[in-house]
Amino acid sequence: MKKLTGPFTQILPLTGMPQKGALQDEQLHIIPNGGALVEDGRILAVGDFEKLRRQNPDAGIEEITGPQVLLPGFIDCHTHICFGGNRAKDYAMRIAGKTYLEIAQSGGGIWDTVTQTRAATEAELTSWLVECANRHLAEGVTTIEVKSGYGLSLAEELKQLRAIKAASLKTKAKLVPTCLAAHMVPRDFAGSQGEYLEYVLNELLPVIKQENLAGRVDIFIEKSAFDAERAFAYLSDAKQMGFDITVHADQFTAGGSKVAVETGALSADHLEASGEAEIKLLANSNTVAVTLPGASLGLGMQYAPARKLLDAGACLAIASDWNPGSAPMGDLLMQVAVMSAAEKLTTAEVLAGLTYRAAAALKITNRGILAPGMFADMQAYPCADYREILYYQGKMKPVNVWTADFNDF
Ligand code: NIG
Ligand code: FE
Repeated sequence: MKKLTGPFTQILPLTGMPQKGALQDEQLHIIPNGGALVEDGRILAVGDFEKLRRQNPDAGIEEITGPQVLLPGFIDCHTHICFGGNRAKDYAMRIAGKTYLEIAQSGGGIWDTVTQTRAATEAELTSWLVECANRHLAEGVTTIEVKSGYGLSLAEELKQLRAIKAASLKTKAKLVPTCLAAHMVPRDFAGSQGEYLEYVLNELLPVIKQENLAGRVDIFIEKSAFDAERAFAYLSDAKQMGFDITVHADQFTAGGSKVAVETGALSADHLEASGEAEIKLLANSNTVAVTLPGASLGLGMQYAPARKLLDAGACLAIASDWNPGSAPMGDLLMQVAVMSAAEKLTTAEVLAGLTYRAAAALKITNRGILAPGMFADMQAYPCADYREILYYQGKMKPVNVWTADFNDF
C-alpha cells in the first residue's frame, strides 16, 4: 500500500551531491512543501506534496501538521555499544588530569570494560544494546554500526557478536556488526601480539564467517594496541577471507591511516593525530575518513582535522564512537553540532557526513539519501528551516522517525 507523508516545510533529500570534498550549503537541494511517497519501506518519490497527491490518488495520506524538516535517517558508522558496566571511575580520573594511557596502565581503560563485559550474559548484553539502539533511533539514527572488541577471546567475542545479532531482531534500528577482536592484546593471552592476531585469524574469523555474525573486521593501531606492520598483515589476511576492513587510526599517534589506505580499508576512523601527510593520503584514496567528535569531547583532546580533510578532498563521515570509555555520551547530533562550530564545517558537510558519506564507510548503497528505491529511513525535525537543526546544537530532536522493516544480517 502506497503512503504519502507530508506536507513537510522542507525536504532535504541530499541527492546529487559529491561523494568527496568540501560542500557549500547552496548545494543542498531543498524541496518546499514536500511529500515522501513510500511503499513497502522503499521510497517511490519525493517532491511537491500536492503534486504527488494528485498523481497518486490511491495513496494513503499520513498528514504532517506544523513545520517539519525531513531528512534521511542518520547512519552512525562507528560505535561500541555492546558492553557491560561503565567507566565513570576512569572519567573522573581523566577530568582530574590523568591521561587515557595512564588510566589504562593503572587497571582502567579497555581491559576494565572487557572484564565487565565478560561478566555479563549474552541476554544482558542484548538488552543493553537494544536500549542504546532505541535511544539512538529516537534521535534519528536509523543505522548503527556496532563493534565487538570487549570479549577478546573466542567464546567472549562470539558472545558479543551473537548479542548484536539477537539485538538486531529486537530493534527497528538497523545494526551493522564489526569484529574488533583486535582491540588490544588481552591481558590473559599467553603470547605475543602476532600470536594473538594469528589466533583471531585462525580460530575466530572462520566461525564468524560460518555463522554470518559480521562481514567487517577492525583493528586498533596504536602504541597500546597493535603496531602498523602486524596490522597490515592481519588486515590483508582478513580481506583475503572476504571481510571488509576498517581501522582505528591516528588517534594518539599517526600511522594507522597509512595502513588503512594501503590495505584498501573502507574507512580510517579517529584521525585526531593526523598531520598533513595523512590528510593527503586519505584525500587521494577511496578510504572514508571518519571523525569521532564524541571521543575528543570524552577525552578532552583535539578534534580530527575535519576542515582540512574536506578541503584536501577527502570523503568525511562523522560518527559517535559511543563506548563506555572515551565516548560515553552517545548523542551524535550534539557532538557534531559542537564540533562543526570549532572545525568550521558547513551544514551540508555535516549532513552528508551523517548520511550518504557514512553509508560509504559501511559499503551500504540502499540508504543515506531520499531517492526512489532507497529505504524509507527518514526523520523530521520540528522546525521550518533546516539550519535550526545545528543551531540548537543537538538539543532539538526529531519528532518523527520512520524506518524500513529490514535488517542487515
Ligand atoms: O574508539 N580507541 C580505541 N577504542 C575505543 C575506546 C574504547 C574504550 O575506551 O573502551 C575508541 O575510542
Ligand atoms: Fe572506536
